[in-house]
Amino acid sequence: MRKYQSGLKGLGRRGTLLTDVHSKSRFYPAPVLFLDDMQENDFDSISMTARFVAYWRQYTDIPFSKDVAGHIHAGEVIETFLGENHIAPSEISWYAPLFEVRYKSIVEAIRRKGIRQVIELASGLSLRGLAMTRDPAVTYIETDLESLTKEKAALVSVLRQKYALADYGNFHLSSANALDREQVLSAAGRFHKDHPIAVVSEGLFPYLTHQEMDTVVRNIRDMLQMFGGVWITPDFLFKTDSTRALASRRRVGKAIAKLTGRRLHATLFEDDGQLQAYFDASGLRVEVLNQVDLAQHVVSPGVLKLPVSIIENAKPMLHLWILTPKAIGDAVSS
Ligand SMILES: C[S@@+](CC[C@H](N)C(=O)[O-])C[C@H]1O[C@@H](n2cnc3c(N)ncnc32)[C@H](O)[C@@H]1O
Repeated sequence: MRKYQSGLKGLGRRGTLLTDVHSKSRFYPAPVLFLDDMQENDFDSISMTARFVAYWRQYTDIPFSKDVAGHIHAGEVIETFLGENHIAPSEISWYAPLFEVRYKSIVEAIRRKGIRQVIELASGLSLRGLAMTRDPAVTYIETDLESLTKEKAALVSVLRQKYALADYGNFHLSSANALDREQVLSAAGRFHKDHPIAVVSEGLFPYLTHQEMDTVVRNIRDMLQMFGGVWITPDFLFKTDSTRALASRRRVGKAIAKLTGRRLHATLFEDDGQLQAYFDASGLRVEVLNQVDLAQHVVSPGVLKLPVSIIENAKPMLHLWILTPKAIGDAVSS
């Protein structure tokens, strides 16, 4: 309980409610959104959601997921959150397979691209980097906000001891606000300039406003133009998918919006065409894969006794976007 409350710092600090500053853009619908004043503290309230993901990952075989959930007392955290919002854990246990598929599809996408330098933005309590750098040929930089990164560093040293993990010097934790170009580029400064990189973002964009999304996309594009490589993300949602979402998912969404002070999925895209046009204007070429086709050996439905059909039913919504920078000289908005 104490952990849960301490994680709530920053709660209630909402941005100003404004009408959409992008309403004139040809790429966006014109919803009302929260425009934040872009102070880092506003983002700290989102960090709580990393604990929720960590909770559901413990029902998978993702490396270290049970240790992470135990270390942060994820059971108590989720119990309190759901209790306060009158949601039964069993109503939303399908989150486990969705998060499992999402995580595993990204691992597989990195592998298929043959890229060995990875930077993850907003990596939360996920430890894909720690797992993947057991291969000394892979360099992985996990980044997130400062307070979460400090907490994660302590967790990683516990895990290193517990499993006697060899330290090849290829796993790094760096504080970086994804909106801060200097911080992001400085974190990527460890990479070899002559090898391509993969930038990963998993579960960050749903919390951003249009303006913030534009900033992060520009930062990612700039990194890719420096090193070459790909941006891998499952983070975008179409309006049609959102209206099809289960009632329980909508209730969780509302509760998370209340907790974080953020309107979830403020950046919904009408459809694939609108998203492609957005990427195009951002200087990125797009390849769309499906998470389910990439994720191998999904175990959580068995662990939680959920129907396997849960994944097939969700499959049409589970995209994974692979973005590459257009050649310099192509038209790019700055
Ligand atoms: C839903 S969690 C996802 C965490 C992780 N990617 C995962 O899948 O478990 C969202 C994460 O975004 C981080 N975050 C929010 N705003 C951020 C920002 N401006 N820069 C970097 N990280 C941010 C939070 O601290 C949190 O860890």
